[in-house]
Amino acid sequence: MSLDQDEFRSVLGRFASGVTVVTVADKRGRDYGITVTAFSSLSLEPPLVLVCIDHNASIRPALADASHFVVNILAAHQEAIARRFSEPEAEQRFEGVGFIRGQNGAAILEDVLASLECRLVQSVVGGDHTIFMGEVEAASVRQDSPLLYYRGGYSQLDR
Ligand SMILES: Cc1cc2nc3c(=O)[nH]c(=O)nc-3n(C[C@H](O)[C@H](O)[C@H](O)COP(=O)(O)O)c2cc1C
Repeated sequence: MSLDQDEFRSVLGRFASGVTVVTVADKRGRDYGITVTAFSSLSLEPPLVLVCIDHNASIRPALADASHFVVNILAAHQEAIARRFSEPEAEQRFEGVGFIRGQNGAAILEDVLASLECRLVQSVVGGDHTIFMGEVEAASVRQDSPLLYYRGGYSQLDR
């Protein structure tokens, strides 16, 4: 069976997901961030998660070089943040966005539903992406509802 790229995207779009912004600070303290839906839990013992990052993404070299990164899980009201961190202006993504720094420098965005501070433990190339695996060293949650992504659009839980 051969599947063209549009069909492949359309099928994958049927998998509803949450939305994250993955952040990292490079050795000079410069911040990088990117909107990511390819996030998953991986292991409970040890506590591992993974994110899949496009080889062309501006964050990739900094991530590959980093000891730590943060996965920010966005809340329902943060669609503008998801859009901002996926638009081309990588230089300006953090302008006017509130954040604090995690234990190892990466940005924890204000008002996120949850954040996971991760130590990079392994990376594996998969096609045109790299899978970055992180051991979760600290985490926080807020009482809120999640931002969702489904069939190419942002959405929220009907409750
Ligand atoms: C809803 C959504 C989900 C995305 N998920 C991913 C992802 O899982 N991995 C990835 O590498 N890029 C993902 N992207 C694309 C990046 O957010 C976007 O291309 C990137 O920020 C541009 O990279 P740049 O920093 O090089 O400009 C997603 C974009 C959107 C809008």
